[in-house]
Amino acid sequence: MDRFLISGPTRLEGKVATSGAKNAALPALAACLLTPEPVTLRRVPAVRDIATMRQLLEHCGATVEESHGALRVTAAEIRAPEAPYDLVKTMRASSLVLGPLLARCGRARVSLPGGCAIGARPINLHLAGLQALGAQIWQEHGYIHAEAPHGLRGALVHFDRITVTGTEDLLMAAVLAEGETVLENAAREPEVVDLAELLAKMGARIEGAGTPTIRVQGVGRLHGAEHTIIPDRIEAGTFLIAGAITAGDVVVTSCLPEHLGALLVKLRQAGAEIAEAGPGALRIRRPGRLLAVDVTTEEYPGFATDLQAQFMALMTQAEGVSVITETIFENRFLHALELMRMGADIRLEGRQAIVTGPRPLTGAAVIASDLRASASLVLAALVARGETVVDRVYHIDRGYEKIEQKLGALGARIERVSLP
Ligand code: EPZ
Repeated sequence: MDRFLISGPTRLEGKVATSGAKNAALPALAACLLTPEPVTLRRVPAVRDIATMRQLLEHCGATVEESHGALRVTAAEIRAPEAPYDLVKTMRASSLVLGPLLARCGRARVSLPGGCAIGARPINLHLAGLQALGAQIWQEHGYIHAEAPHGLRGALVHFDRITVTGTEDLLMAAVLAEGETVLENAAREPEVVDLAELLAKMGARIEGAGTPTIRVQGVGRLHGAEHTIIPDRIEAGTFLIAGAITAGDVVVTSCLPEHLGALLVKLRQAGAEIAEAGPGALRIRRPGRLLAVDVTTEEYPGFATDLQAQFMALMTQAEGVSVITETIFENRFLHALELMRMGADIRLEGRQAIVTGPRPLTGAAVIASDLRASASLVLAALVARGETVVDRVYHIDRGYEKIEQKLGALGARIERVSLP
C-alpha cells in the first residue's frame, strides 16, 4: 500500500497540465459496448478507475488496445453481459454498463455496489428509468438482473433527483431503444454533454444534452467513432486551489475555464487573482490574505461536490468563518476530521462544516477516506509545517493522474513510498 510523504510549507510556482476527465472517460468507455465496431478514445487519463473499467469491458468480451495515448475498444461480441462484484466493489461507476449492456444484448447482470465512504449511493433511479423503458428488473444474490428480450421502448423518464451516472446510463440505454425517450430533470454536467457528443458521433440522435430535458430518437444500430475526452475540471480545480492555498503563482493548462465557473467565483471572493493565460489556460496568484467565503455544493453549474473537500482545506487558511454546506452526499466530511488532526478549526453540524481560520497547520499522519478527501489532505499538507504522511493513497490514484509528479514539478516536496 502506497503513502505520500509531504514536507511543508511550500509555495507552488509553474505550469501544470490537466489530464482527461475520469468522469467523462468512464461513461465513454461504457458506451463502447453499444457497437460491434471499434471506438477510439483519446486523452483517457491513466488512473485506477479507468483500469478497472477496462477490466470490466474485457470481462464483457471487448478488446481494449492502447496506442499513442489512445484507447481503442472493440466490443465485436459481448460474451458476458455482466459486472461482477469484484469490479463493482472497487468502482461504483461500474453500474454505467447496465444501460449499454441491456440495450445491446437485451439482458444484463450487475452486482449491487454495497457501502461507500461518502454516502449510501443507491442506483434506484437508474433502475426506475430502465423499467420505464420496458426492462424487467429483479434482484437476486446481490445482483441486479435486467431483461428486455424484445428490446427497450422509448418513454418519458423523470428523475426524482438529479443523478449524473443515472442520466448517462439512461442516455446509453435510450439510444438503441425503439422510438423517442425524453429524460426530464437530467444532469447538466459537462461529462453528460461529452458522452452525448460521443454517442452522436456513433450515430445516435440526441437533443438537449446540457439542459434538464434530453430527447433521444432511438436508432437501430451504432457504429464506430473517434473522440477526445474533455479536460478534468475537478483536477484543474484542485490545482487552482493548490495555487491559492500556497500563495503561489500557478498556470493550469489544457483546461476548459467555462467548466470551472462556480469555483472561480469563490476563489476570487476568497482573494485569489485569476486570469486567462492563453487558450485553455488559467493563471492563479494570491497576493494577499485569504478571506473566508461560504460554499454550498450543488449539481452543475453549481459548486461541485467533488471540489468541496479541497475547498475546505483552503478555508482552514482563510480569515473568518466559512460555512460549507454539502447537499449532494450525506457523509462527505470525513476529511474534516483529518484536517482537524493537522490543526484546523472545523465544527461539523449535520450537512454543514463551519471552518474558522486561519489556523496554522502542522504535519501529521492522516488517512485518506475517498478520492477527493485525499486531495484535500495533500493540499493541507502543502501548507502544514513539517512532514505529513498521507496513508491509503490508492484513493487518490483512482482519479488523479501522476499527482505527485505534477505537484512536484510545481515545487511541492512530495514523495511516494511503497510499502510491501
Ligand atoms: C457522479 O457520481 C460522479 N461519478 C461523482 O464523482 C460525483 O461526486 C457525483 O456524480 C456528483 O457530482 C462519476 O461521474 C463516475 P449522482 P454519481 O448519481 O453519478 C443520489 C468523484 O470523486 N442518488 O449524481 O454516482 C445519490 O445518493 C466522484 O469523482 C439516488 O438517490 O452521483 C446522491 O446523493 C465520486 N439514487 C445524489 O443522488 C440513484 O439512483 C447524486 O448522485 C442515484 C443517485
